[in-house]
Amino acid sequence: MDGRDLVRSVSVVGSRKAAQGLRTVRAAWRRRRIDAAGLPARGVERARVPGPVQEAVPGPGGGVIRFSRSELRITVAVNGAVFWGWDGAGPEPSYALAGRCPEPDPRAVLEPDTDGGWRVVAERVKISVSRHGAVEVCTPGGVMLRRDLPPRWWEPVDGGPARWVQRSEVAADARFFGLGGRASGPRLRDGTYRLWNTDPGRAFGPGDDPLYVTMPVQLVVADAAAHLVFHDTSWDGSVTLREGAEGAGSGHDRTGRCEVRMEGGPLRCWVMAGTPARVLHTWASLTGAPALPPAWALGHHHARWGFGGEQEVRRIVGGYQERGLPLDAVHLDIDHFDAHQVFTVDQENFPKLPTLAEELRRDGIRLVSIVDPAVKAAPGNAVYDSGTGVDAFVRDPSGRLVEGVVWPGEAVYPDFTHARVRKWWGGLYEERLAQGFAGFWHDMNEPTSFTAFGESTLPRASRHAMEGRGGDHREAHNVYALCMARAAYEGLRELAPAERPFLFSRSGWAGVQRYGGTWSGDVATGWPGLRASLSLVLGLGLCGVPYSGPDVGGFDGSPSPELFLRWFQLGAYLPLFRTHASMRAGRREPWEFGSEVLEHARVALLERRRLLPYFVTLAHLARRTGAPYVRPLWWGAPEDRALRDCEDAFLLGDGLLVAPVLDPGADRRAVQLPRGRWYDTQTERVYEGPGQVLVDAPLSRIPVFARAGAVLPVRDEDGGVGLEVWAPARGRTGGGLFVPDAGDGWDEPEVERFVARWEGRRVVVRREGDDGVSAPPYPVRVRGLG
Ligand code: GLC
Repeated sequence: MDGRDLVRSVSVVGSRKAAQGLRTVRAAWRRRRIDAAGLPARGVERARVPGPVQEAVPGPGGGVIRFSRSELRITVAVNGAVFWGWDGAGPEPSYALAGRCPEPDPRAVLEPDTDGGWRVVAERVKISVSRHGAVEVCTPGGVMLRRDLPPRWWEPVDGGPARWVQRSEVAADARFFGLGGRASGPRLRDGTYRLWNTDPGRAFGPGDDPLYVTMPVQLVVADAAAHLVFHDTSWDGSVTLREGAEGAGSGHDRTGRCEVRMEGGPLRCWVMAGTPARVLHTWASLTGAPALPPAWALGHHHARWGFGGEQEVRRIVGGYQERGLPLDAVHLDIDHFDAHQVFTVDQENFPKLPTLAEELRRDGIRLVSIVDPAVKAAPGNAVYDSGTGVDAFVRDPSGRLVEGVVWPGEAVYPDFTHARVRKWWGGLYEERLAQGFAGFWHDMNEPTSFTAFGESTLPRASRHAMEGRGGDHREAHNVYALCMARAAYEGLRELAPAERPFLFSRSGWAGVQRYGGTWSGDVATGWPGLRASLSLVLGLGLCGVPYSGPDVGGFDGSPSPELFLRWFQLGAYLPLFRTHASMRAGRREPWEFGSEVLEHARVALLERRRLLPYFVTLAHLARRTGAPYVRPLWWGAPEDRALRDCEDAFLLGDGLLVAPVLDPGADRRAVQLPRGRWYDTQTERVYEGPGQVLVDAPLSRIPVFARAGAVLPVRDEDGGVGLEVWAPARGRTGGGLFVPDAGDGWDEPEVERFVARWEGRRVVVRREGDDGVSAPPYPVRVRGLG
C-alpha cells in the first residue's frame, strides 16, 4: 500500500468512522514495521530428508531410530495412542496435552522389520518404519491406515526455524473430517485448509476458510478403521487433502492424499485408531476431558449485541415470560461495558447490574458476560494499569508494547502464554462475579486487531513467553485463545471453588474443551449459513470439542421467518442453543416473526426443555468418554459408505437422529437411516434402516427419529425425571443411560443403566446396578407400540 492508497482508504471510511479507519491504517503500518524489523527474510534455504537408516535403540514403548540426517522417536502410550517425533522432538512441552504425556506401554517393543526397516507392534496398530523414514500405520491385521512418506525440511542457511512438509497416503475409500471448525464440512473435500485462527472480519458462509478455530486434528474414516492424527505444532500451516477413489473392479485404486505444511515448529504427531468412539475416548484421555457445562447452559440462551440498557434486557426477558417460553440465560455483549473496556460496566445504562442478575436468577435465568482480551491502551484505565504493573502485555522485539485496534480503540494484548499473566487475568473475573455473572463468553481472541490491510491480528514478530521458553506470535497465535480460556478457568476455580466454571470461546485449539466450549462466531444469515452451522458443530465435536452451537438466525441481516424457524429448530438440538445477532441486524426474538413461527418455536423450546435430562446425560458422557453429543450418522457404523457422505443429519447421543431442514420451501426431506429400526418421534411410524426414507418436514417441526430400544431420560410435566422408552424390535433388547444433574458443583453422579426388553406382550425396563437388577425409580412411558 502506498500513500495514495492510504488517502483513498481513509476517505472511504467516511467522516463518522474516519478516526477508527485511521487507527486501523496506523495499526496495519505498525504491524508491517514490526515484522519487517523483527522477522528478517528467510534467505537461502537448504532442503533435508532423513536419509538412510543407521541404527535403532529400543526404549520404553518403542525407541529411537537414527537416520543419517535425522532421528525418529516412537512411543506407544498406555492409552493406545502412538507418538512419533522427528529430529528428537518429544511429546512435551505441548499446549494440547492435559498435563503430562501418558506413560509408555511396556508391551510395545521396537523390532527389526523386513527390508532393513523397523516396526513397533501395539495392541491396536502396527507401525512400520522404512529404511528411508516412511512411517506406515496398519491395523493389527495388516491393513494400511496411513502411510507417511519421509518428511522434508527447509532450513534457512543463516539459522531460524525450519519449514517442513509431511505427505501421507490414506485408503482409497477414506474420508477426512475435523481440522477444527470448518464452514464447508463436515466432510472435508479436496482443497487446502489453512491452520491459522482467523476472524474473517465479516459474517461468514461456507466458502470462508479458515475461521476462528483451526487445529491440526484430522479424523480419517475408512473401511478398515477410523484414525485420528494430530500434528502437535501450533505454527502457521496448511493441510491439503485429496480424497482417493476406488478402482471399482477394473482400474487401480487411487489412494487418498494429505499434505501437512508448517512454517516451523516440531514435526511430531499422535495417531490413535479404532472405532470412532474409541478414537475420541483416547483423544480425550490425551488432551483432557471436556468441561461439564452446568445444566442451565444446556437450556436456551438469548444474546444480543446492543441491548443498550437494563430496561431492554427486562423487556426481552418479560417477552419470554409472558409467552411462557423457556429462557435460561441472557448474554450481555460489549455494549454493557464502559467505553467498550472489558471488566467495566456502563453505569448509566446498567446502573444496577447485580440487582438485575439477582432478579433474573430468582426466575431461573443466568447472566453471561462477553470478555474480550484486548485492553484499552490508556493510563488511568484500571485494567491497563494493573496489567502494566505485572508486565502483562505483549511486546515487540524492541521491547515496546504491541498495540492493535479493537472495540475500545488502541489496545494492548495480555500474553496468556505466561503463568503470571494468566493468574492476573483470572483474578479479574472477580469483578464479573460481583456483578452477578454466572458464565463467560470469550470473543475476539484469535486474537483480532482491526486492520485496514493485511492480517487482522498481531505482528508475527510479537514476543511471547511460551511458558518461559520464549517465542513469537508465529507460534503463540493459534494457542492464544486456549491459554486465555485456561486463565479464566483457573481464575474462576479459585474465585468460586464450589462452582464449575462455564465459559465458551470464539477461538481455540486442541485441548480447549478442558476449559469450555466454543460457538460458531459471526455466521452469515442465509440458508448456506444454516448449513455451515451444522458443519462447524459436527467438525468441532470430532476434534474433541463437544459443546458448541451457532448464532441462531445468523449474525447479520434479517432472516426470513422460515429461515429463522428452521435455524431455531436445529439449534434446539445442538449443545449450545443461543440466539444472537449484531446490533445492525434485525430482531431475533421468536415472537418477532409472526404467530405461526412463535407457536412452532415454542414447540422447539419446550421439547428442548423436555430433553434436558438427556442433554445433561450427554454432557456427562462427553466428559467421561470424549464422545460428542452431536455425532455424524456414521458414528456407530463407519463402514457404511452412504452414511459417511451424509452431511445433513446427525445423531444426538445414541438414542436420537435429528434431520434438520436446511433448504427453503421444503415440507419433506430424505433421510439416510443407519441400520436398525427407527421411529419418527412425532408420528411413531416405523422405518427400517439402513436406507433412505422420505419423511414429512412441515414448518411445525423437523424430523427426529428415535432408535428402537432407546431409553431416554426426559423431564416430566411436573418437572421430575421420566424414562421415555422406544419399543425394541420383537426379540430384541434396548437400553440407555441416565446421569442425574448434580447441580453447579463438582459432584460426579453415578451413571444409571437401563435395559428394555420384551416380556410376553409388554416392554419392560429394568435398572442394572452393582447390586443387581431393579425396577427404575422413575415413571416409564413406552412408545412405538403401534
Ligand atoms: C464479534 C462477535 C460477536 C459480537 C461482536 C460484538 O463480532 O463474534 O458475537 O456480538 O463481536 O462484541
